[in-house]
Amino acid sequence: MTNSEFPRRAAMAFVLCVLPALVVLARAEAVQSIKGAPASFTAECSSCHMAYPPSLTGKANWRGIMAGLDKHYGVDASIDSKTQQEISTWLLANAATSARQAAASPEFRITRSDWFIRKHDEVSASVWKRASIKSAANCGACHSGAARGDFNEDGVRIPK
Ligand code: HEC
Ligand code: HEC
Repeated sequence: MTNSEFPRRAAMAFVLCVLPALVVLARAEAVQSIKGAPASFTAECSSCHMAYPPSLTGKANWRGIMAGLDKHYGVDASIDSKTQQEISTWLLANAATSARQAAASPEFRITRSDWFIRKHDEVSASVWKRASIKSAANCGACHSGAARGDFNEDGVRIPK
């Protein structure tokens, strides 16, 4: 191989090998699991909305949410302190760690995080208010795989 060929081959190798691997990694990140959750988490945290995977947000937001369950977005979601401790421990152990996703947000909401707003900038205000959606917190309205923690863009269907 001549010297002039090398950059071209290196570029080809990147496109053929490295790029697909990066795409696979980016997709894996879109699947956020509730695997290993204590039974109390699904019992206490999925009756009013889906069980949000802990890796959707960071420790600061989870601490805030778990400390204010008696005044939880207009409802009383309080639980006994032993259960609260068990769920908190698991949420904090599995919380997001990247600075971008772990940043605290207003009302401790996932849906008011900068990353969330950026990823959803194509959704207009009127779409969020549709009767079929009601709230940005209603992930499953648009993400067909939300219940299994899959928020990949391929699974997005915005209801009428
Ligand atoms: C009695 C009903 C109820 C229970 C039980 C409940 N929640 Fe909620 N939760 C709500 C409501 C209502 C909202 C606000 C939804 C909205 O804005 O559309 C909410 C919002 C949230 C949000 C913020 C969603 C966003 O906008 O980013 C998180 C996170 C959350 N709940 C976690 C939990 C956890 C963890 C538990 C269990 C400890 C729990 N919830 C139990 C009713 C409940
Ligand atoms: C109104 C419909 C709608 C709701 C409700 C909604 N999303 Fe989305 N979501 C979208 C759209 C549209 C995109 C952008 C897809 C694209 O890039 O083509 C997206 C993208 C995402 C992405 C990035 C996916 C990727 O492959 O980059 C994540 C993560 C995500 N949403 C999580 C959530 C979570 C968590 C909730 C609930 C708290 C939620 N979404 C609620 C419509 C919605």
